[in-house]
Amino acid sequence: TMSSLQEAKKIAAHQAVDNHVHSGDLVGIGSGSTVIFAVERLAQRVKNENLKVQCVPTSFQARQLVIKHQLPLTDLNISPTLDVCIDGADEVDSNLNLIKGGGGCLLQEKIVASCSKKLIIIADYTKNSQKLGDQYKKGIPIEVSPMVYGPIQQKIEKLYGGNVEMRMAVMKAGPVVTDNGNFILDWKNFNQDVDWKKINTELLLMPGIVETGLFIEMASKAYFGMPDGSLKHKK
Ligand code: A5P
Repeated sequence: TMSSLQEAKKIAAHQAVDNHVHSGDLVGIGSGSTVIFAVERLAQRVKNENLKVQCVPTSFQARQLVIKHQLPLTDLNISPTLDVCIDGADEVDSNLNLIKGGGGCLLQEKIVASCSKKLIIIADYTKNSQKLGDQYKKGIPIEVSPMVYGPIQQKIEKLYGGNVEMRMAVMKAGPVVTDNGNFILDWKNFNQDVDWKKINTELLLMPGIVETGLFIEMASKAYFGMPDGSLKHKK
């Protein structure tokens, strides 16, 4: 039997797919454990209603999921504007700003979201918060070019405080290498009362920072599955 956390992810994923995907849509497929339920639902709808969709994955994991469920694949250069992107998040604040990249897929996730008319977030109740950092303690992921992880670590700590840690692999001695061949820094213990839009813009101007896990003013709506089996949404 499924845990309440898994049930919560599933409820949010199914609702988002049912409400926001229509036949003929180009759909961005996010990454992580919640998106698995969204792709399952998409495949069910293709089978049951003959729904037509084409999918753009945001990671190796998402691509494998799409292949496993035999959904049609496309890419941004063939299909430059997507109708909707459905993705998970590590945290969603009261303004629908997000921390993403717990799974290391932030670069492609942000690219695909930026090419989508709507970004719909699906999550369990643990991801819902007021301020970034209230719930999620693993830090803000920052994807960096391998040649400059040291200087970036130093600059962020000096300019903004907190600790910036290199994400290390689990089954290998050494750093996590992203789908794009980069490293991930996790910025922890940051000041929560800051202007994230400003900081995100400043970070993106640092040479060597490829992308940040701060998704500011990108999400249109977030669905949260609750412990009692109900559904909550923001916006
Ligand atoms: C992947 O890099 C992340 O941005 C995920 O979207 C995020 O970590 C949510 O994953 P879960 O659905 O597993 O919580």
